Amino acid sequence: MHISHECLCTKYKDTGRPPSRVAHVMTSRRAAGVRCLPINGHENPQVKHFQLPETDFLAEIEKVVRPSAPIDKFELLLGRDEDLTDIRRSLHAAGRHVFIYGDRGVGKTSLALTAAYDYQSSESDPVTVSCGPNETFADLIKSIVRKGPEAVLNPTTKKTSTGIDARVVKGSREVNEVSEAIGSEITIDRAISLVAQAFASAPAHTVVVVDEVDMIKDRRQTSLLASFIKALGDRAVPIKFIFTGVASTLDELLAEHQSAFRQLHPVRLERLMLQYLGDFVVQVFEHFDLEVDDSVKWKIGQVSDGFPAYVHIICRSMLLHIYDNDLQIEEVKESELYSSIDHAIREVADGIKQPYEMATGSKDQVIEHLIWATADSQDLERQLAHVKRSYQSICYALSIEPLQEGMVSAKLNKLKQPSHGQILSAVPPNKKGWYQFTESMVRGYARLKAMQRGIELTYEPDKPDLVSRPQPYTKPRHVYRDPSNYIPNMRGYGSGPRRESNRAPKRKR
Ligand SMILES: Nc1ncnc2c1ncn2[C@@H]1O[C@H](COP(=O)(O)OP(=O)(O)OP(=O)(O)O)[C@@H](O)[C@H]1O
Ligand SMILES: [Mg+2]
Repeated sequence: MHISHECLCTKYKDTGRPPSRVAHVMTSRRAAGVRCLPINGHENPQVKHFQLPETDFLAEIEKVVRPSAPIDKFELLLGRDEDLTDIRRSLHAAGRHVFIYGDRGVGKTSLALTAAYDYQSSESDPVTVSCGPNETFADLIKSIVRKGPEAVLNPTTKKTSTGIDARVVKGSREVNEVSEAIGSEITIDRAISLVAQAFASAPAHTVVVVDEVDMIKDRRQTSLLASFIKALGDRAVPIKFIFTGVASTLDELLAEHQSAFRQLHPVRLERLMLQYLGDFVVQVFEHFDLEVDDSVKWKIGQVSDGFPAYVHIICRSMLLHIYDNDLQIEEVKESELYSSIDHAIREVADGIKQPYEMATGSKDQVIEHLIWATADSQDLERQLAHVKRSYQSICYALSIEPLQEGMVSAKLNKLKQPSHGQILSAVPPNKKGWYQFTESMVRGYARLKAMQRGIELTYEPDKPDLVSRPQPYTKPRHVYRDPSNYIPNMRGYGSGPRRESNRAPKRKR
């Protein structure tokens, strides 16, 4: 039987989902790179993307979504305008460099690269070097020198007496000097002169991004780096540096060399505000000519917990879901979000999953509920009373009876132990009865896992008066999936409270 493509498209539009035979026709058309015909005489704009062959579609996704690569373009970097202005002004001040610090995954490298491209002369790209584990100061200088235009212009590789490759730096006792830098020790003076030589022909506005300075663990090496930053200003080396790392590294650098303060403009990066995460979601789907239901936009923003990587992962998973299922939709709804969560969870980096998997490895489901409870707020640091409240409300939503109050803190303290991946830690300085995730980004993973089970965690700041005047919880929590799928012995959602069990849920066959 001949099936008219036009009639098929109209049919999809009405039902939202093609019947399987139709899906097959669509898939084979897509494999052949055939575009869909207009719906009711009008061109259906999103169809052109979703009918692309897979490699082209993936390339199209890559244009707007980068779950595992930093951003280096203004258009894609959301919510950092003020930081960019700050950095630009600092870089234009003589002898001043920038240190961007913040939690893992918050967007440090993306901001550094975008700011570097913004400042960098259009004649060339900024230089980027990443610090490796146990890197020494000399290793770092070697990496920087090797990326200088002089080294690039003269890439002659010679064998030194030690058998190590070294590139020639023009106009000096080149090979020897670079070889020396390759050694494990280098003086500040020598480091400065090598860097100045390697970048002698660099354009006026040249930036070197030194990423992940926190990888340099040895205090003696950070002390050398602090002296180097100080000397850069004093010796008027014309290139600019943007460093990234965690807060403790900046403290160390400044502790070593208080006067490096004047040379280093610190930029503390906070998690992205919900509004920007929502804007990002809209921007991504707009690229595919799809509208986004408001609730979807906020839900993605909230579950992502201020960490843009999760927004990228979720949007990518949703786009693939729409593509794989040939969904003929014009607006993205909650069903697309919920159907993509399993895929999104698989895409999260192992390093983030690890503490969660370790903590929940014993299959004690109370532990998992307590982890969700700790992540159930916008606040990173949470007081026991708030965590308990969240825990009770999660149990209520799941129709299970919570653990006795007294046992909750004992279980939470377990989560600070290495046996439980140290997923939680105390809140310094000595805030007794407060909890936080050791790695803030793991919170987002906990929020995703809760969503996978049908529980949506809240994203509001904690109310301080709860601690002094406990009140019953009044707002019922949204549950979108039948939790009896994973809570043992549940006869179906809404079947009344049951006691929270320490036993592993039975696997459904
Ligand atoms: N302002 C932003 N708007 C949109 N996406 C962003 C933004 N900042 C970062 N991202 C995305 O978030 C993810 C993490 O960004 P990035 O690698 O820059 O973070 P990081 O703090 O350097 O992480 P790490 O600590 O692991 O080095 C990447 O997928 C990046 O594309
Ligand atoms: Mg980074």
